[in-house]
Amino acid sequence: MAFVDSGIEPVRHPMPGAVKWEPRERAPAHPGFDAAYAREAIRELKPLYARLERVIPPLEWAGHAPYIKAIRDLKREKNAAILAHNYMTPEIFHGVGDILGDSLQLAKEAAKTDADVIVQCGVHFMAETAKLLNPNKTVLIPDPHAGCSLASSVTPEDVRALRAAYPGVPIVTYVNTSAAVKAECDICCTSANAVKVVESLGSPRVLLIPDQYLARYVASQTKVEIVSWKGACEVHERFTGEELRGYREAEPGIKILAHPECPPDVIAEADYTGSTAGMIKWVKDEKPARVVLVTECSMAANVAAEAPDTNFTRPCNLCPHMKRISLPKILDSLVTMKEEVTVDPKIAARARLAVERMVNLPV
Ligand code: 13P
Ligand code: SF4
Repeated sequence: MAFVDSGIEPVRHPMPGAVKWEPRERAPAHPGFDAAYAREAIRELKPLYARLERVIPPLEWAGHAPYIKAIRDLKREKNAAILAHNYMTPEIFHGVGDILGDSLQLAKEAAKTDADVIVQCGVHFMAETAKLLNPNKTVLIPDPHAGCSLASSVTPEDVRALRAAYPGVPIVTYVNTSAAVKAECDICCTSANAVKVVESLGSPRVLLIPDQYLARYVASQTKVEIVSWKGACEVHERFTGEELRGYREAEPGIKILAHPECPPDVIAEADYTGSTAGMIKWVKDEKPARVVLVTECSMAANVAAEAPDTNFTRPCNLCPHMKRISLPKILDSLVTMKEEVTVDPKIAARARLAVERMVNLPV
């Protein structure tokens, strides 16, 4: 249906995941420096590598295995759970992740975990969401500078300006925002449930911020008028329809799966549009011979490990923020219990409402 730009200019653009950075002690020594430990790790993790050899070469695995073993042992010792987003590299995703998925799955499962410590292998807004849903648990992020171009595109001041300009219009915030922005909004959504959330409000007009492309996609799927913001994902906005037509010409029959953060000319070329979890499900259900996942690059490797009958064409658009998370940083995080993610309790109480309204929507 109708898509309208809000016409409101951003007040200011803070750094993503605006967290103060303090120097910390050196990361622990590489556990692989101990040759006997490295050999033991490789032996112990043989069954895991059997699942991953399609996507991780043996030499690389020899470097990863000691970290994976050390992280797994420390998780047990500290009763910690690792939340790994679909964009983590395979050694993290399959090697140490306990709760795996898209933003919606991570938020929902984080609320159920009985771990004392949550390590968010994803970006800062995801760690904040985990903290909102687990206020009494320790939530760690291995690199607090793992931000997001969408989260940094909008501030609480911007949302207040939108409210003043559009009185009475409900505001839906994409989960890719800071807790402080969520606190100013009525309800949260993810790419997996944005249409459902918008329609649940029973309003003919809804503000959906900050991703202009997700907003356009939702507008194309509903009768509700969508007013949006000018934010964009720096990874997905780089894809073009022309590039995808090139893949179709080179490989007739290829299936194109796109994330709704992509521009409209990209979505117009796609055989399926959905969240990262939606794309994974599509590949597992449909078992296409060849597919291109129009999203962050690591996801194809994670799915390839589990979909041996599908060949993946991999345009390698990496998210620089997601790629800040590495095995050495995860180990460091569990050893030093840093960086802890906290949210001001007054902000958290309001932001939690927006997230809980989404999580509690009937399936
Ligand atoms: P999903 O919710 O689809 O996992 O998307 C999160 C994200 O950051 C996409 O860029
Ligand atoms: Fe943000 Fe885009 Fe990275 Fe997702 S891929 S975390 S939306 S910058």
